[in-house]
Amino acid sequence: MKYGYFDDERREYVITAPRTPLPWINYLGSEDFFTLISNTAGGYSFYRDARLRRLTRYRYNNSPTDSEGFRLYIRDGDTLWNPGWQPVKTELDAYECRHGLGYTVITGEKNGLRATQEFLVPPGDNCLLCRVTLENVSAGKKTAEVYPYVEFCLWDAMDDSSNFQRNFSIGEVETEPGVIYHKTEYRERRDHYAVFWTDAEVKAFDTARDAFIGVYGSPAAPEAVMNGGCTGSIAHGWAPVGAVQIGADLSSGETMSFLVGLGYIENRPEEKFSAPGVINKAPARAMMDRYRAPGAFDAALTALGQRWEALLSGYRADTGAEKLDRMVNIWNQYQCMVTFNMSRSASYFESGMGRGMGFRDSCQDLLGFVHMIPERARERILDIAATQFPDGSAYHQYQPLTKKGNLAVGSGFNDDPLWLIAGTDAYLRETGDWSILDESVPFDNDESLARPLLEHLRRSFNYTRTHMGPHGLPLIGRADWNDCLNLNCFSSQPGESFQTTGPSEGPVAESVFIAGMFVKYGRAYTDICRRLGLTEEADAGDAAIAAAEAAVLSAGWDGEWFRRAYDAFGNVVGGKECEEGQIFIEPQGMCVMAGIGKETGQAARALDSVKERLDTKYGIVLLQPAYTGYRLELGEITSYPPGYKENAGIFCHNNPWIVCAEAELGRGDRAFEVYRRTAPAYIEDISEIHRTEPYVYSQMIAGKDAPTFGEGKNSWLTGTAAWTFLSVSQAILGVKPTLDGLMIDPCIPGRVKGYTVTRRFRGAVYHIRVDNPQGAEHGVKELYLDGKLLQGNVIPAQSPGTEVSVRVIMG
Ligand code: BGC
Repeated sequence: MKYGYFDDERREYVITAPRTPLPWINYLGSEDFFTLISNTAGGYSFYRDARLRRLTRYRYNNSPTDSEGFRLYIRDGDTLWNPGWQPVKTELDAYECRHGLGYTVITGEKNGLRATQEFLVPPGDNCLLCRVTLENVSAGKKTAEVYPYVEFCLWDAMDDSSNFQRNFSIGEVETEPGVIYHKTEYRERRDHYAVFWTDAEVKAFDTARDAFIGVYGSPAAPEAVMNGGCTGSIAHGWAPVGAVQIGADLSSGETMSFLVGLGYIENRPEEKFSAPGVINKAPARAMMDRYRAPGAFDAALTALGQRWEALLSGYRADTGAEKLDRMVNIWNQYQCMVTFNMSRSASYFESGMGRGMGFRDSCQDLLGFVHMIPERARERILDIAATQFPDGSAYHQYQPLTKKGNLAVGSGFNDDPLWLIAGTDAYLRETGDWSILDESVPFDNDESLARPLLEHLRRSFNYTRTHMGPHGLPLIGRADWNDCLNLNCFSSQPGESFQTTGPSEGPVAESVFIAGMFVKYGRAYTDICRRLGLTEEADAGDAAIAAAEAAVLSAGWDGEWFRRAYDAFGNVVGGKECEEGQIFIEPQGMCVMAGIGKETGQAARALDSVKERLDTKYGIVLLQPAYTGYRLELGEITSYPPGYKENAGIFCHNNPWIVCAEAELGRGDRAFEVYRRTAPAYIEDISEIHRTEPYVYSQMIAGKDAPTFGEGKNSWLTGTAAWTFLSVSQAILGVKPTLDGLMIDPCIPGRVKGYTVTRRFRGAVYHIRVDNPQGAEHGVKELYLDGKLLQGNVIPAQSPGTEVSVRVIMG
């Protein structure tokens, strides 16, 4: 069942029923100011850091769900309603929500009045704008009262939801006609405030929640609205809000429109006040003036459109397969941008208060993002590298506002260092900008320890090289990519962290997965060394990689698939002798992507085992058989009920590893089959089962052992975005940036006769046409650059500003 449809022309998903199985959201903003907004106008805003600079409140586990947001109450006679349906939930005569790229438009109609809320964060500014348009579509006159409303957060979202003994006393506001300034803590150490304004004529306002909603009132029937109007309340402590009352008198066919804004303002400490205790409003006024000008909102919308057009024009496929094209050209790239911005911090599943930016997560996000804005990727790589420790290990997470590592979690996730090589390698391939390796970057954010980025990569490589276990496989530490496989932690008390209980340095527990990474990304590192003339280092590195590869093919091979790990007692994890958890997806994907066993047959055998043992109709599950009970020696993975999350859920993130692995073996039919199964556009019509948004990936789909098989969770912020984009754009459609140029290496279903891709690469544009006359799944027979036959399938980087045509004949 569907709850809407794709409008590819406008690059929108159009939701036609407000009761979606879960709130279906969008992200507005891609620089410093962000807003999450649902199809019923639920959501919240923050500046840079969803924990430390939260502008509006959101209660994640509230009931009804998605109760807080950017509300517009309309009182028309006896009828109270919202164009987004929530929170009043009056049945609407018409409803539509269009989630577009960086904007959302919600339209509701009731009793002959149509109301539209158009939301966006203007490029280059720190505010959310909402243009409200009211149209009288009835035959008679309409007299209504309209109330935009938000509830402020007292900045630190964690403190805001826990420290009530203080927070109920500190809330402060200032007001002016049409403007509410939220200035809690500005009197002391904060230099920032929020401004909520409208350019409509305002009849009255409220700034105290108790006055507007009522102490025992409900957001579904705010007392002020029910009683006929705002009360002019000034918040002193408790819960400051922004509510304004606007009159709408419309004759038949008449429309009115006005702007509502929510801005974040920072003042220099010496310019905080305009008079004792009075905030300096000059920058807020300048912000409001920017959007008072006629046409300013439309100009922002146009600028946004142009920005996305430019971003998406870096990779555009025309395959003739509608669903594939819409994923590749629109939604997958859009999600890559969002995950790049947010890492795993703020979604409807990630509270923004828990983890900040993940080291491994952000490095992987780069893989899908780097072609869009390489300069921002560069900056991100340097930020991430600055949280690495001098021994090459890394803080597992850091806060985006401070860019400092998160001490509570610390380090010891032994795959982390290698992801820095992966991200940097992707940047080098995309840009050819070798100067990044010379950038001086601190270790542990300590400038006195700064060394060139190359040294960071070296220490990443050496960290793995020098942390090998009894079988010559890398030690796992607290966990590897699978955060929940905790082989050194042994947590037995509820509430303890599965990852940080116990020592990170186990001398026995090893990871076959990290070994696969070491082979894949270690080679990337030695390749870089070789090009820099560091031949001895490269040779020594390759010898270490060869040893790891040999260890994988002996101790890491189970006969029909790659084992997962050895636990702290030296027992196999992910092997035939295991009662549960006999086969895991991760090492099959990573080891084959690394080319291990490609020539000797283990790679193909391992992928066949994946198909035989892990395939389901909704995707490939992470392991089988699922663990049925908690095992101290394996940790969090066994804490989940069977079929959920890492315990045999369909963890979407590593499905594309299998796509890439299949492509590594040239098996195009299977690669596409795996790709298709989890791609959101392909499962739109089972939205009642899948439940999460049909335009973005979710981290996890419940596996076949779960009672809710097929149900998605944790949508939006997942490494799935980057990896699926990589799998489809590079492994399947075969347009791969390499250090030497653009490689064309398609691996497609044999039935596909051809397709085109337009790719921007290092400033030049490549119009690529692939023909597949003989129904091949893989292999390039001929490649022409501007009509001239090239040797091989790597096109040297063309001069910036040029456009070339590339013709590829498979066979
Ligand atoms: C984390 C990733 C991790 C994955 C698998 C996600 O929630 O953000 O870092 O690799 O889970 O455990």
